Amino acid sequence: MGAVGGVQGAIGWWMVASGLEAGMITVASYRLATHLGLAFVILGLLAWYILQLGRSEADLMQARRGREARLFSMSTGLMHFAFLQILLGALVAGIDAGRSFTDWPLMGGQLLPPGAFALVPLWTNFFENPGLVQFLHRTAGYLLLAFAVVVWLRGRRSPHAATRAAFHAMAAMMLAQAALGVVTVLLAAHWSVAIAHQLGAVVLWVLILRARHLALYPRGGALRGAGT
Ligand code: HEM
Repeated sequence: MGAVGGVQGAIGWWMVASGLEAGMITVASYRLATHLGLAFVILGLLAWYILQLGRSEADLMQARRGREARLFSMSTGLMHFAFLQILLGALVAGIDAGRSFTDWPLMGGQLLPPGAFALVPLWTNFFENPGLVQFLHRTAGYLLLAFAVVVWLRGRRSPHAATRAAFHAMAAMMLAQAALGVVTVLLAAHWSVAIAHQLGAVVLWVLILRARHLALYPRGGALRGAGT
């Protein structure tokens, strides 16, 4: 953890240095995304360790025997997808793309925003074109929400009450976060709502990890509460 924290410090400086170069009025968006991504990795590791340390080793070993393998792998998929969405969010914030199109559900009155592939070379549009970057973050957000519902439907069938509750909380936060994203668009990324949306991602991230942890280490003995 210490080493990762140190690397994060170096990346932080690398990011800030990009904003000090002549002609730059903000930091490079790729560096900002790297910094935010690593911040979420650190938060994720911390949350996982806290969840582990909150229970005795014997309890964890016992609980693991009753793990829900399918639910755990679905949660792992959800975790990776959410991480990708967070990186896309950093790219949106990094180039102020949240202010480029403020209509919803369409963008500039179209499904695909006008000028989505205006930059040359083509690949740069995926990272630097405000319209396309916001479009990708919006679309991935809807897909993430849909996948979260699928995982939640599986989670609510868990025989463990604590696991079910964790998946309910994750799904509720996912819905709130997507709604907050829409409000962020409609208010042209006003700082107050943009910060709430960023904080929402932090809460959601921890809730996904907590649900995933309970799928691997269910609480309350092997099958207590089955059928309830
Ligand atoms: C559902 C899961 C979602 C997650 C986990 C998520 C996460 C994030 C994150 C981490 C950021 C970067 C915040 C920052 O660094 O300041 C961001 C920015 C943004 N997101 Fe989302 N987002 C989600 C859905 C959405 C949706 C559905 C929309 C719109 C329809 C949206 C619109 C935006 C906008 C406009 C920004 C830029 C805000 C700014 O300029 O600070 N997001 N998102």
